[in-house]
Amino acid sequence: MPSYAYFNKQFVPLAEAKIGIMTNALHYGTAIFEGIRGNWNSDQKQIYIFRPKEHFERLQNGCRVLKIDLPHSVDELCQLTVKLVAMCRFEEDIYIRPLAYKSSESLGVRLHNLESDFLALVIPWGPYLDMDKARCGVSSWRRPDYNVIPPSAKLTGLYINNALAKNEAIEKGFDEAIMLTPDGHISEGSGENIFLVMDGKLVTPASDNHILLGITRDTVIKLAKEELGIEAIERPVELRELFAAEECFLTGTAAHITPVGEVDHRPIGDGEVGEITAKLQKLYFEIIRGNNPKYLDWCTPVYKRVP
Ligand SMILES: Cc1ncc(COP(=O)(O)O)c(C=O)c1O
Repeated sequence: MPSYAYFNKQFVPLAEAKIGIMTNALHYGTAIFEGIRGNWNSDQKQIYIFRPKEHFERLQNGCRVLKIDLPHSVDELCQLTVKLVAMCRFEEDIYIRPLAYKSSESLGVRLHNLESDFLALVIPWGPYLDMDKARCGVSSWRRPDYNVIPPSAKLTGLYINNALAKNEAIEKGFDEAIMLTPDGHISEGSGENIFLVMDGKLVTPASDNHILLGITRDTVIKLAKEELGIEAIERPVELRELFAAEECFLTGTAAHITPVGEVDHRPIGDGEVGEITAKLQKLYFEIIRGNNPKYLDWCTPVYKRVP
């Protein structure tokens, strides 16, 4: 199936969307990206895009940090994304990659006097951490401090930090890295937020613990409260608390909700998928596929279907 991209303010076949080798963002990491899921519902033959507005609002905030002039409003970005996904006509789970970038073909480290542009592409993509339980390793690479690069924006240059951690984890035989804050508290996975279950409550690193404020994290906090009556406590979390937790899981657009079975060769709880994790996973998968009427506001259908 040919895929399409939104590029230079037009919809074009993906293979035709090319940037020049002097593009500033390629050299200096001067771009902001997003990752948005489209989830296939085989009964309804529909793709539901999950919380696109929140993703584009985060993109917009990141662009402010990098002084990127987004050529579209959040509403326009949502609309063009629906159009792009519809053109691709995939009938499976997909991943949408919007990118706002310094597009001038001009070298030199700076943010000023550079043009900006926006592109988006779509690929078919199943679960990112494709296992029942992830085996994680605590990374020797720490999250950058706020006065180095703001870890709360999806800045492409920042993701070298995440790539180093992921690579180290894989080379050590783990599935994913758990990264710490500069002062040694738990921050997040290389592409996911992290939750622990302690005394039946959810505990997750707080917004000032060098995390990306995940949209899946927000979804889980709301579902836990609303559907399970479980409070999520956002606070600094120590490594010893992780080893003593009853359950642990990672959350992210790509990884969905992935249970963590062990960290640094130590089982979490009994090493199996915990009860609260399993309940949240069930709810979440129902919701992202548009199968829970209460949460349809979060899901944007792509295909026009005659009822
Ligand atoms: C470093 C990092 N943390 C957390 C997340 C989870 O964020 P979200 O749930 O919005 O995908 C991501 C993925 O975007 C990420 O790259």
